[in-house]
Amino acid sequence: MAEKTVGILTGGGDCPGLNAVIRAAVRRGITTHGYRFKGILKGWKGMMECDWEPLGLEEISGILPKGGTILGTSRTNPFKEEDGGEIVADNMKRMKLDALIAIGGEDTLGVANKLTAMEVPTVGVPKTIDNDLSGTDYTFGFDTAVNIVTEAIDRIHTTAESHNRVMVIEVMGRHSGWIALHAGLAGGADMILIPEQKYTVEEVVGTIRKRHARGKDFSIVVVAEGAQLLSDKGSDDEYVISEGGLDDFGHVKLGGIGQLVADTVEKGTGFETRVTVLGHLQRGGTPTAFDRVLGTRFGIAAIDLVQAGDYGKMVSLQGNAIVAIPLSVAVEELKVVDQEFYDLAKVFFG
Ligand code: F6P
Repeated sequence: MAEKTVGILTGGGDCPGLNAVIRAAVRRGITTHGYRFKGILKGWKGMMECDWEPLGLEEISGILPKGGTILGTSRTNPFKEEDGGEIVADNMKRMKLDALIAIGGEDTLGVANKLTAMEVPTVGVPKTIDNDLSGTDYTFGFDTAVNIVTEAIDRIHTTAESHNRVMVIEVMGRHSGWIALHAGLAGGADMILIPEQKYTVEEVVGTIRKRHARGKDFSIVVVAEGAQLLSDKGSDDEYVISEGGLDDFGHVKLGGIGQLVADTVEKGTGFETRVTVLGHLQRGGTPTAFDRVLGTRFGIAAIDLVQAGDYGKMVSLQGNAIVAIPLSVAVEELKVVDQEFYDLAKVFFG
């Protein structure tokens, strides 16, 4: 069988472990299957503009522990343009690609799914610190983000205790509370606010008051950026926190709920309160061992799907097994935190 030329791209927000996937796919593809690779630059933008560079054993050497992506990324959505899908399909031919591996979250894989319907031979790899993709137990990047946030909570704990303050920590996660819940549990947070739940001012203030009433004079509150606070009457009068408009895929750029919660707590309890927004710290730097291994397993599974000609699939982790599922299933709906898991965390509130 003639050797294949495979394009690889990374799209959406960067995340630790992307380079592990690239390295594994290229290494396996070259040494086992005799493939050639083209690194598509800046996600779907590179596919729209035929922007690529050669990707060989030299280029992947030493990248395993590096954060970010050696291919660059963007939030470009080809389908925002009327004939964007056709442009990508044509450019596949122009760049002489036999297959494309798209590494990304719901947006990047949503594009891959639409291209599959146009018979573009595509395989997806799930990436996001948010861990909100259906069909996979974990995405790589999540474990690193949770560890960064956990360490931040530990550090903030000691200063909270020294100053008798309430410390509010705003974390990423978009419309899911996975990062907040995992890191909040690991860091011993006294309250965790996530988008999947609704909270009244009274409830938040009451939880902190209850804790202080039993002799504790400091508290840690972890707030997911997508969480919402209802007015004290619990009506539909929700505060909407958004600071930067919409991205190319129509997502609201979130941020600001941490400050709102901090102001609310200080006003309602009289306790001095501070806020820390962890922001992009959660996405930067070297991946954990877990994310390096998961990324490596995903990269190898992705290139093996290409070898099998099994397109329109996404590699995923189910239990401890790597399996392939249809891209359409992966992008159907967001994976959000279930009530049972949240109830477990509530044991430690207040
Ligand atoms: O999806 C990953 C993520 O880090 C979200 O948690 C966050 O809302 C968003 O990306 C931030 O995007 P940007 O890097 O464009 O500011």
